[in-house]
Amino acid sequence: MTLKTALAQGAKLLEEAGVDAPRLTAEVLLCYALRREKSYLYAYPEVELTELAWIHFGRYLHERMNGKPTQYITHVQEFYGRSFQVTPDVLIPRPETEHVVEAALKFHSARVLDIGCGSGAIAVTMACESPAMVWATDISTKALEVAQGNARELGAKVWFANADLGSCFAPRSFDLIVSNPPYIPTSDAPGMQREVRDWEPHVAIFSGESGNEAYVRIAESAAELLVTGGHLVLELGHQSAPAVRAMLGPQWQNVRLLRDLSGIERVLTAQLQ
Ligand SMILES: C[S@@+](CC[C@H](N)C(=O)[O-])C[C@H]1O[C@@H](n2cnc3c(N)ncnc32)[C@H](O)[C@@H]1O
Repeated sequence: MTLKTALAQGAKLLEEAGVDAPRLTAEVLLCYALRREKSYLYAYPEVELTELAWIHFGRYLHERMNGKPTQYITHVQEFYGRSFQVTPDVLIPRPETEHVVEAALKFHSARVLDIGCGSGAIAVTMACESPAMVWATDISTKALEVAQGNARELGAKVWFANADLGSCFAPRSFDLIVSNPPYIPTSDAPGMQREVRDWEPHVAIFSGESGNEAYVRIAESAAELLVTGGHLVLELGHQSAPAVRAMLGPQWQNVRLLRDLSGIERVLTAQLQ
């Protein structure tokens, strides 16, 4: 079977299984099976698939049809122009989170803490894009292993700690705290995309009945860990802005909400007085 035929058949199977962007997904999976760049598919459409590549491609198609996200099959996700390794132990970094990094970088802070680092997308990017000293925590030891691997691979100097939020640090240790915490209400689970609900780690997604439990705790913790004048940068769920804004007491000033490309209030920044 040629690459062109394999691609067409793969796209058809994915489409019949109701997978989003079936052609694009088939291309990504075929490239991964071949360990080749996408340009190869277009340059050599008549090349015959080896038996081994066909077996791999078939397995990846099967996994994707069963709901496994493409990134957990190929183990990679681009974030802020870099390739991050991902496993089912970490949230797949989202493009919206790049707005969080952009907002955080604008403060030019010297000592930065990323709470709930997952794959390390925020912490590693902050360390690569600025001269800041960066620390990162996660409650999941498996996520920390992935984040440490990404930091090593991307040449980022980040200090990692397995901790509940920032509980391992002394008060007034940081100039900036950044976090993309879990923020989905547990009651939303039944209506969620199966790729997220059934595959991504629940500790990375869900935060109590309201979805706001982690925000409450992070705001309290940040008020202790930040120096006076330090900044807090939070990613917001698509309906979280009013509740998170309201939970910040009078010690938080200069509260700003920034919208993502869909116009959703996606990032909150605030300064500790
Ligand atoms: C939404 S994910 C964000 C991952 C990564 N920062 C990103 O933006 O792609 C939230 C992360 O917070 C971690 N987490 C959840 N509860 C935590 C806690 N109490 N203390 C530290 N980390 C926590 C999860 O393990 C998960 O890695």
